[in-house]
Amino acid sequence: MRKSLSLVLALFATVLVSSAWLESAAQPAKGKSAGGGTAALYTKHCAKCHLENGKGLESLKPPDFTDAKWQASHTNAQIAKDIRDGKDTMPGFKDTLSAAQINAMVKHIRGFKPKAMKK
Ligand code: HEC
Repeated sequence: MRKSLSLVLALFATVLVSSAWLESAAQPAKGKSAGGGTAALYTKHCAKCHLENGKGLESLKPPDFTDAKWQASHTNAQIAKDIRDGKDTMPGFKDTLSAAQINAMVKHIRGFKPKAMKK
């Protein structure tokens, strides 16, 4: 009895670990369509708070970039300004990223739009 229980636990742990690995391995490929360089910058500077999927770390309460309402209520100029100057807990990136990189980042964030909105 004991033995089979530990076998089940070991199996369960293996499934958990491998699905987490698969998920992280699958992520970088997704951003590629938005331009490899920008996706890499996003991963480096933004993903620790906004996550690779754009939904963001819940504990920080950042906006959900995949939310159609959020996308519709923000202009490109606003998004670019907030990336440059920062907002509350988010640091500004004007010393880290060039204006061109910030504009590319705005496009990358638009790339999180739900499919129904992309036309
Ligand atoms: C330290 C965590 C952190 C990092 C790193 C970070 N952000 Fe944020 N970001 C936040 C938080 C928190 C908010 C919500 C701020 C608020 O509305 O009070 C936010 C908000 C935003 C917004 C929405 C601003 C608006 O108009 O409401 C955009 C766009 C954004 N981040 C883009 C980025 C990009 C692009 C990067 C990387 C270059 C980045 N963030 C890096 C935490 C972070």
